[in-house]
Amino acid sequence: MTIQKVGVVGCGLMGHGIVQVAAQGGFQVVAVEAEQKFLDGGLARIDKSLAKLAEKSVKDGKATAEAAQAKASETRARIVGSTDRKTLADCDLVIEAIVENLDVKKQLFKELGALCKPSTIFASNTSSFPITDMAQASGRPERFVGLHFFNPVQLMKLVEVVRTAKTEDDVFAQARAFGEACGKTAVSCKDTPGFVVNRLLVPYMAEAMKMLERGDASAQDIDTAMKLGCGYPMGPIELTDYVGLDTTLFIVEGWTKRYPNDPSFAVPTLLRDLVKQGKLGRKTGQGFYKWEGDKRV
Ligand SMILES: NC(=O)c1ccc[n+]([C@@H]2O[C@H](COP(=O)([O-])OP(=O)(O)OC[C@H]3O[C@@H](n4cnc5c(N)ncnc54)[C@H](O)[C@@H]3O)[C@@H](O)[C@H]2O)c1
Repeated sequence: MTIQKVGVVGCGLMGHGIVQVAAQGGFQVVAVEAEQKFLDGGLARIDKSLAKLAEKSVKDGKATAEAAQAKASETRARIVGSTDRKTLADCDLVIEAIVENLDVKKQLFKELGALCKPSTIFASNTSSFPITDMAQASGRPERFVGLHFFNPVQLMKLVEVVRTAKTEDDVFAQARAFGEACGKTAVSCKDTPGFVVNRLLVPYMAEAMKMLERGDASAQDIDTAMKLGCGYPMGPIELTDYVGLDTTLFIVEGWTKRYPNDPSFAVPTLLRDLVKQGKLGRKTGQGFYKWEGDKRV
């Protein structure tokens, strides 16, 4: 693998996690944010997470306090933060984890295409947009992949590595190897809506909401059924609250616009109504359930 220096644009919920796992994987990482305060916030989250990790490895008897501290410091030393995009110019791989807005992402990749060295590989962490659209905007579609990490990045073991019709084999192989070096299990998939996980998960969540709308079963009973019947850690209604009703609606609406004839992407009325009422799930304290912080009440 020729990847040594990695840039991550966006150091929010997902970006800070990607920065951290890349540094843990031994890569030099540049984290780029739009504003200093967001950069500071992202780096503070990384510091907290590394300290927690060190504490856990001592508690589990895997390392002495000194060794755990040294490892955390080494990891942290591989990360630099910046608000200047030019710092990405010599990166071997740049991963985008900014706001989920296709025009903003395309504009970013257009600029990165002009700024970065010709061999730089580009990747997007988007959950809902076609990789092909961003690849085209970058001006180097053959060096473009999707690297879809899961939240929380530090804990979730999966990365979906997405190839478009134009992604070169070597670029794809390097992206997969990078994902594995970050400690993840990589699965390969084509550039289709939702890739693997969300393509199966989102229509399942939508179908659960439609059951609720029809009065087939209560939210609690739907969730209990899927937990006990399928061994899932969370039911689909609770999961929608957890992900955010606005985020779920945004994804389903995007797919509905693109694929109006596919019934599995139809938007549940209940979802639209709750979002209109500002009931967005866990983050607003009320969705299908009431929440206090991370706890359902
Ligand atoms: N949240 C999830 O569970 C999840 C899971 C998988 C993938 N994703 C995807 O990851 C991406 C980021 O999502 P998030 O939840 O981390 O969002 P977030 O809002 O927490 O973070 C986005 C960050 O990007 C920064 N930003 C915005 N525009 C920028 C720019 N032009 N240059 C530099 N920084 C910029 C913002 O300041 C913010 O800190 C989205 O594409 C989303 O679809 C999210």
